[in-house]
Amino acid sequence: MDAIAVRTKGLPLSHDLQSGEILLDTRGVTVRFGGHVALDDVSISVRAGTVTGLIGPNGAGKTTLFDTVTGAGRPAAGTVHLAGHDITRLAPHRRARLGMARTFQRLELFVSLTVRQNLLVAADIAGRRSGRRIPSVDEMLELTGLADIADDDVADVPTGRARIVEVARALMSGPRVLLLDEPASGQTEEETARFADLLRQLAAGGLAICLVEHDLPLVMGLCSTVHVLDYGKVIASGPPEQVGADPAVIAAYIGTDHTPGTAATDGDVPDTAREAG
Ligand SMILES: Nc1ncnc2c1ncn2[C@@H]1O[C@H](COP(=O)(O)OP(=O)(O)OP(=O)(O)O)[C@@H](O)[C@H]1O
Ligand SMILES: [Mg+2]
Repeated sequence: MDAIAVRTKGLPLSHDLQSGEILLDTRGVTVRFGGHVALDDVSISVRAGTVTGLIGPNGAGKTTLFDTVTGAGRPAAGTVHLAGHDITRLAPHRRARLGMARTFQRLELFVSLTVRQNLLVAADIAGRRSGRRIPSVDEMLELTGLADIADDDVADVPTGRARIVEVARALMSGPRVLLLDEPASGQTEEETARFADLLRQLAAGGLAICLVEHDLPLVMGLCSTVHVLDYGKVIASGPPEQVGADPAVIAAYIGTDHTPGTAATDGDVPDTAREAG
């Protein structure tokens, strides 16, 4: 496929990427917490220019997989690859420098700073890290639809939009791979629709996006591939329509209470963003 420069409304969001190229993959990743196997031989992949879904019931291991991929935790077995390179033993900051960015299920923003200041901090860190041109804060506020609340304290921003602030902050580093942990949780329907448009636009620019979400219509509408985790195992991988019709997936997840708007997410979501650490 053609090389595509990741440019979204003129933003140098990333490097030149091959659309469709596997940018991130895990190979046989196993993670244990004491005797508990949180991830069991997990192999998934995320391609440039696509949104890949990662779904499954509470406690299935989705956040643990993000932690392992970003270097917050080490697997007991298996490897993590970025653009084919084994990064399993790299420190988190080195993975970030190579173009990996994430958001957190429990928001980790600086609540005493404004939206703009949160992005400025991220820009400062990203600029010092890489030396490459990063998006301007004003461009990012515009792209993500946050310009009207740029000077509001994050503490005063409702959860739904605070999640977009976290996405914007992650994008300030000009990532190649973006990992989103329940980004639509706390968003209104209208916010989610706008957010879906943003993700489509980012993917069209070449970004590889991995989306953990309990909002199944969002996942099914956006993703080209969906991986389903249950008790730490991948029980299905494929196009959304195939995965959605899979009896094992229906039994483990779709047919249970773990559907949008149920206890699956509601208990986890803070009313407002909370400070990092
Ligand atoms: N630091 C930890 N120490 C011990 N056990 C942990 C730790 N982190 C996660 N676990 C356990 O690992 C399993 C996977 O948890 P994880 O948070 O990855 O699930 P999840 O799929 O993200 O769930 P949710 O949809 O509720 O966010 C759970 O059984 C959880 O209790
Ligand atoms: Mg989680």
